[in-house]
Amino acid sequence: MIDMHIHILPGVDDGAKNLEESVAMARIAYADGIRDIVVTPHFNGTFLTTADIVHRKVEELQTELDRQGVGIRLHPGNEVRLENRAFFDEHWRKRSFAYLGTPGAYLLFEERWTDYDADTPEIVQRLRDADITPVLAHPERHFFFRENPEPLMRLLELGVWTQVSADSLVGNSGPEAQQFGRWLIEAGLVHTLATDAHNLIRKPNLSAGMAVFEALAGPAERAKLEARMSGIV
Ligand SMILES: [Fe+2]
Repeated sequence: MIDMHIHILPGVDDGAKNLEESVAMARIAYADGIRDIVVTPHFNGTFLTTADIVHRKVEELQTELDRQGVGIRLHPGNEVRLENRAFFDEHWRKRSFAYLGTPGAYLLFEERWTDYDADTPEIVQRLRDADITPVLAHPERHFFFRENPEPLMRLLELGVWTQVSADSLVGNSGPEAQQFGRWLIEAGLVHTLATDAHNLIRKPNLSAGMAVFEALAGPAERAKLEARMSGIV
């Protein structure tokens, strides 16, 4: 399996604190059945983990995983927050953030936690025009999408993919996120699953999320989901 949203790089954001914790997370991921990891440190107003840092840290962690015989292949990425339009515009122009995987055809982005950014459709359209597929991180965790799914439906029409978190599906992010995540699966609106793991407590648990997905959508849909995710790296 591929985990395409995880804060496993050491000492760059609110994820793994050091190399030791990163390796421990990778071991848990491996035991969970994950073989490829797209690292997605925060790229936002608080943690500006730029692409050059991502690439350097990927190399550092990969070297250590190889040395310790942990069979995980790392790929670059970022979780870019739409802090506001000016923030996105500036860093898009400066090529500050990393796209998912080496082909770079996907961008993982998240909304602010406070409110929906009304400029999102325009930003999404610009990405689509550049042949990039925007992947929306954990919509089920945002109260404004739960209260009014209309903007989310609009983004889906524009070609946005969704990433639902395994933690949400197993109930670790509260009953509302769990319910909405399950509803999105049943409605056929989930393109990818990921862990969004940050440490050894909020840990990689993709297989549990996949099991929920399969129970709700069936094995054929799960196979399609995994095939779609394979295309990212
Ligand atoms: Fe995240």
